[in-house]
Parts: sequence; structure tokens; C-alpha cells
Amino acid sequence: MRQESALAEFHDLAPAEESFRDAVLAGLTRRAKSIPCRFLYDERGSALFEEICELPEYYLTRTEMAILRDYAPEMAASAGRHAQLIEFGSGASLKVRLLLAALEAPSAYVAIDISREPLRRAADEVAADFPQVPVVAVCADYLEPLRLPPLPERGEGRRVGFFPGSTIGNFTPEDAVAFLAGCRRVVGRGGALLIGVDLKKDKAVLDAAYNDRAGVTAAFNLNLLERINRELDGDFDLDRFEHVAFYNEAAGRIEIYIRSRADQIVTVANRSIRFAAGEHIHTEDSCKYSIAEFQRLAARGGFRPGRCWTDRRRLFSVHLLESA
Ligand code: AVJ
Repeated sequence: MRQESALAEFHDLAPAEESFRDAVLAGLTRRAKSIPCRFLYDERGSALFEEICELPEYYLTRTEMAILRDYAPEMAASAGRHAQLIEFGSGASLKVRLLLAALEAPSAYVAIDISREPLRRAADEVAADFPQVPVVAVCADYLEPLRLPPLPERGEGRRVGFFPGSTIGNFTPEDAVAFLAGCRRVVGRGGALLIGVDLKKDKAVLDAAYNDRAGVTAAFNLNLLERINRELDGDFDLDRFEHVAFYNEAAGRIEIYIRSRADQIVTVANRSIRFAAGEHIHTEDSCKYSIAEFQRLAARGGFRPGRCWTDRRRLFSVHLLESA
């Protein structure tokens, strides 16, 4: 039964608004041009990313969902009774539903996200669909040190973080260790972290996942230039730039760039920016880890590796990490 009165508790930690303009101008005036990948996700970028998740070549989302579906009971048992489940970057709160349905009398679901209104909507929907679970929405930048409000408790449950999607791959390994250490602080002694990590695999499979035939990933990447045109009065000619993505085997990561097809000068926010033919803007890295590599990374972040679930083809992994 849907209980319309069940709403999420909402806490606004007032995350600082980041300036797209400052980030773009700084990134495009460096010798090696780059723009942080979080700026790919404006409204259009987020819609394109959702389309990516449905692509035949993009195995990540559906494989992780299948692992969560198949092993939610084991994951829930590992989390234990009365757990407080804390999701970092909860978005539409879709994947977490598989866990919430399996957990034994969870004390709380805490959804942390920077996008205020989508967070409010998603958290209220979870609260309506899981009326027996207290839902706490926290509007905050999960990359910043975080002070959670007092959370509902139902006895001796522990804190379990949730960070699906292999978003951890966007960090450099050093930044990933720092992020994990931050999670470790949030879940505390006796806490745990359930985290989705894309695995190393055949280069052809990886290259295809980031160079789909329908061109959605290219549109997602190039939308960054359209966003600059829209929001920063830019005049990028989209026909004179192209999407580039490849698996750098030595570095163990997908590297994504926008490449200039010509010598050209572009105007952004009244500044002239010169591009040589073949010059790149680095827009994203997506690191891939073997299970053992990721376990070593987790240890550096203060976690003891616990169980790890994968699919039959060993495309993707979900690790349970225990506070060390
Ligand atoms: C959201 C970071 C997991 O790295 O696979 C997908 C982003 N970029 N296609 C990934 C992305 C291009 C995605 N993550």
C-alpha cells in the first residue's frame, strides 16, 4: 500500500555553488586543456547519460543492476539488521531500492546529493515506496567533509555506505583513496561500504563501451561544448570538434577527450581561446581495477576488503569493505 503521508526528512547543508565559468576559463587556458567531468551533467548531459546506460555496448549499469538483484540478500545479510544505509550521490535512488527491499528492518536510508530538487523528489518517492524505512535526504557535496544530522536508530545497527555505478573510477587512484578515507570517517568504527567498481577487461570491450555505434557517448561528451555555448556565450562550432575515447592499457583507464579538427579560435565569455588542429580537451578518466588492485586501494583508504560479488563474465564488481 502506498502511504502518501510518508515523506523524507530533509536537511539542507547548503553546498557551495561551483562556478562553471571559472572552471571552464581556467581549464581552457591551461597548456594541457581540461574540464572536470562533473560539468558533463547539466540537464541535457544527465539525460544523455541515462541513454548511455541503456546502450548495448555500455555493460556497466545493467551488469551492476544484475549483481545487486542476484546478491541483494547476501549483501543485506552482510550489512546486518537495523543498518543505516548511507548513499553518496544518490541521484534518482534507483539501485538502492534493490538493497532496501532486502535489508532487515533498516534504521534509515540516508540519501546524499548536491542536486536539491531531484534529491527531494527521489527521497520522497523512496519514503512512499518503503513506508517502513525512515528516509533522510541530505543536500550536500559528498566530496566535501560531511557532518550528518543525527540519524534514526533502531537498536544496534551499523552504518553502511553505498557508492554504486563505478563513479569511483572518475577519481585518480590518489583521490579515490582520499574519498574512501572520507567514507570511512562517515561510517565510523564497525561500519562498512558497499561500492561498485568496473573491472579491467579486454580493450575491445572497453573501447566499444565508450564509442557506441549510436553516437550517444559522443553527444554526451560534446554537449559540454554546447553547454559552454549556452551558458557562457561561447561560439564553439560542433562540426569542428570530435569525441575521442580509448582504453589506455598501461594506465588502466578509459581516457575521454574532445579533439579539435582544425586550427581555430573560439570565444568563450569574451575570451579568445586558440586550438591547434588535433589539440585535445581532456574531459574524463574512467579507471578500471582488478579485484586485487581495488582491495589494495581500499586498504589505503582505511578499509579491510570483505566479500566481492561479480557477474559470470567478470565485467563488474561490487565490493563490501569493512572499516579497518
Ligand atoms: C558515471 C563515471 C561511471 O565512467 O563509465 C559513461 C561516465 N562517461 N560514458 C563511466 C561515462 C562516458 C561513467 N561513470
